Amino acid sequence: AQSLIIDCDPGQDDAVAILLALGSPQDVELLAVTAVAGNVPLTRTQENARSVVSLAGRQDVPVYAGSDRPLVRPLVTAEYVHGKTGLDGADLPSPAQPLAGGHASQAIIDIVRSRPERSVTICPVGPMTNVALAMRLAPDIVPRIRQIVLMGGAIGLGNITPAAEFNIYVDPHAADIVFRSGVPLVMHGLDVTHKARCTPERLERIADLGTAVGRAVYGMLTFYGKYDQHRGAGGGAPLHDPCAVAYVIQPDLFGGRDCHVAIEVASEPSIGRTLVDWGGVTGQAANCKVIDTIDDDRFFEMLTERLARL
Ligand code: BDR
Ligand code: CA
Repeated sequence: AQSLIIDCDPGQDDAVAILLALGSPQDVELLAVTAVAGNVPLTRTQENARSVVSLAGRQDVPVYAGSDRPLVRPLVTAEYVHGKTGLDGADLPSPAQPLAGGHASQAIIDIVRSRPERSVTICPVGPMTNVALAMRLAPDIVPRIRQIVLMGGAIGLGNITPAAEFNIYVDPHAADIVFRSGVPLVMHGLDVTHKARCTPERLERIADLGTAVGRAVYGMLTFYGKYDQHRGAGGGAPLHDPCAVAYVIQPDLFGGRDCHVAIEVASEPSIGRTLVDWGGVTGQAANCKVIDTIDDDRFFEMLTERLARL
């Protein structure tokens, strides 16, 4: 099994990403969940992360709290998507475990240092503040990281501004550090995550599991699906963050291209844009595998099957 750290801001789709990892112990060993401010403030994301691991009966997985704001810019949150709690729609248990001691960035450093070289995969599915901070505090960990499989950015249009996707927009300076780090990167942007729609039929199959996890996921995704529905996108909730974890489990579900990606950090109207050199026009060496396709039927089959194990 691949050693994994999920760095997240739950968020309903973050919650499903964590559950997918916990339902797949033969493929991934979840070493820690690290929380960051993003969809909602840190006080909520760290508590939500603990509730989600508790829901799965896995309070042995440590949850660390990290940065309560982006590196440079003020925090922007997304209660208009995720609700006031960040996990609206589900009745989750109170966390069965306390917060693990120490800052999330220090936890990332300690874990990567203590494990064999190039064995730890990190899945950032929120703003990348904790990961960037870890890289700056301890540059020695950078070449030790196996890969960073992230959700963020877009080849095409953004979702919080015309130019930018939420996770990169919230902390573009952190994203810039990560994209320049030299760690092998795999980016799941909106181009692919908008193809991972939890349609009403797929949602019913999750409800049919008849378990506490099935009920919670059904409730969360029913609430969270409303946002895109109201914007006329329809077709169900886009499962952004689970795409990144699914890639770690089964990369052949996805297709993409190696290319250079730069982060816009200067221009206010375009800040947080991922400049994906899809056509190779800059001549800059590839620093990222950019994913744009998914076998969504197989993805949902796997997700439902893994949730059923919890
Ligand atoms: C990303 O932003 C958040 O709202 C989701 O959790 C996801 O990580 C999508 O833009
Ligand atoms: Ca997220």
